Amino acid sequence: MDARPVGAFDSGVGGLAVVRAFRQLAPAERVIYFADSAWFPYGPRPPAEVRKRAFAITHRLLESDVKLIIVACNTASAAALRELREAFPGVPFVGMVPGVKPAALRSKSGHVAVLATAGTLDGELYDRVVEQFGRGTKVTAVAGTGLADMVERGDISGPAIAARLEQLLGPAVGRGADTVVLGCTHYAFLGEAITRLFPSVEVVDTSEAAARRAVDLLCDADALSPGPGGLDLIVSGDRQRLRATMAALGFTPAEQEANR
Ligand code: DGL
Repeated sequence: MDARPVGAFDSGVGGLAVVRAFRQLAPAERVIYFADSAWFPYGPRPPAEVRKRAFAITHRLLESDVKLIIVACNTASAAALRELREAFPGVPFVGMVPGVKPAALRSKSGHVAVLATAGTLDGELYDRVVEQFGRGTKVTAVAGTGLADMVERGDISGPAIAARLEQLLGPAVGRGADTVVLGCTHYAFLGEAITRLFPSVEVVDTSEAAARRAVDLLCDADALSPGPGGLDLIVSGDRQRLRATMAALGFTPAEQEANR
């Protein structure tokens, strides 16, 4: 048993998709979520800058005595996961890796599209995952420029997001991609919009797999919490705006509970 909280962070609301999955699997856990909205978006920033934010946030979460940290952001995982593990060997980290492996296994056409930020697609982690799991599969990288901004505004359905998704994914789907990997945690909120637009396409969302990995690590270390569970938000930018976005994304008032 370990009653300490779990830490998680992202540039904004994206990582909350992972936190929501985690809290469904482990409702007795208290989560401290750091939304780095003052530095949003991470996607176009140089990796060194994102790494600096990841380290600063990790220090802040450790001040709150977290027992595990979920890097609930693909861009930050690409820029900093290895370095965080090296710098904090006593802290278990769970990071986000684009789901190329499940996508390659599920694709019937042998062509998958990975929708992610420029920071993720330019990183070495992405190359490694494609090299390791994408053999024999055509993997098309699609930079989701502007999508995370729309999610931050709560714009996850309607004509504007549909038009942008059509523009970004239409060419790959037209060339036979039958599986789309959501390689950015913000895009977890766009799964339904993608399916509506491209009904025959399968969407791969790794939010739940990452949440499950965190639960497994806690189980293995006998570090699950006896409760009570909850969610505390730390916001580097505008807290009211974050809460308004959470409401627009369908988080109930209970799910939005924030004590600090
Ligand atoms: N949610 C972040 C990710 O998973 C990216 C959004 C941003 O550009 O800040 O990559």
